[in-house]
Amino acid sequence: MTERTGPETVEIARRFPNVHVSPHPLVRHKVTLLSDERTESKVFRELVRELTTLLLYEATADLSTLSIRYRTPLEETDGTRISDRIGIVPILRAGLGMVDAAIDTVPSARVWHLGMYRDEETKQPVSYYNRLPARCEDDLVILLDPMLATGGSAADAVSVLKNWGAGRIKFVGIKAAPEGAARMLAAHPDVPIYVASLDRELDERAFIRPGLGDAGDRLFGTDGE
Ligand code: PRP
Repeated sequence: MTERTGPETVEIARRFPNVHVSPHPLVRHKVTLLSDERTESKVFRELVRELTTLLLYEATADLSTLSIRYRTPLEETDGTRISDRIGIVPILRAGLGMVDAAIDTVPSARVWHLGMYRDEETKQPVSYYNRLPARCEDDLVILLDPMLATGGSAADAVSVLKNWGAGRIKFVGIKAAPEGAARMLAAHPDVPIYVASLDRELDERAFIRPGLGDAGDRLFGTDGE
C-alpha cells in the first residue's frame, strides 16, 4: 500500500472535503524522501522546511491583498501587498520544525506557541504550554504540526484558537491519517487541512501507517527518549 496521492485525489475530496493533499510532484518526491527510514535528522529537518514552504504556498493562495503604488529604480508602478495579518502557531515539539520556513515564506507573520504531547497510554493530547496573548488580532491563524494522527491534538488546538478569538484558521501538516481527517471534519469542518500525504490508517499504537515514524524524534534526534 502506498501513500494516497495523485489519482486518488478525487476520492479524498469526496470523503474529506476539509483535506487538501498537495498533488505537486516536488511535494510527493520530498515526502517520500522524508518518510524513508534511512533519512537522517539533518536531511529530515531540511525536508520538513522545504515541504512547509511548498504547502504554505498552497495554503496561502487566498490571502487578501492591497494594491499599492511604488517605484522601481526606473519608474512608479502598481504592486501588491498582503493585507491579512497572519499568526503562525506551531504545536510543540514537532511543529517547531516548520516554523523557520513558515516565517520566511509568510511576510510579517507573528508566531505564537502551543505545547501539547500525546499521552502514550490514553492517546489523549495533554496541553503543557500556551503562549497566546490576551486577544487574537490575526485575520488568519495557521496551525503547524507535521502529524495529524487521531486528530486529538489538532482538534484541541483549534478549540483553543477559537476560544482565543481566531476567526479564520488553517492547519498545515505533512502527514495525516484518515482517522484524524475525519475527527477534524466532525469537530472543525471550517478548518481546511493542507498536507503532503493522506496515509492509509492508524495502527494499534495510533501511529500513522505507512507514516514516517515519530516526527518529533526524527526532527530532534531523540529516538523516543
Ligand atoms: C505528535 C505530533 C502531534 C500529535 C499527533 O506529537 O507531532 O502533535 O502527536 O497525534 P494526534 O493527532 O493523535 O493527537 P507528540 O505527542 O509525539 O509530541 P512531540 O511533538 O513533542 O514529539
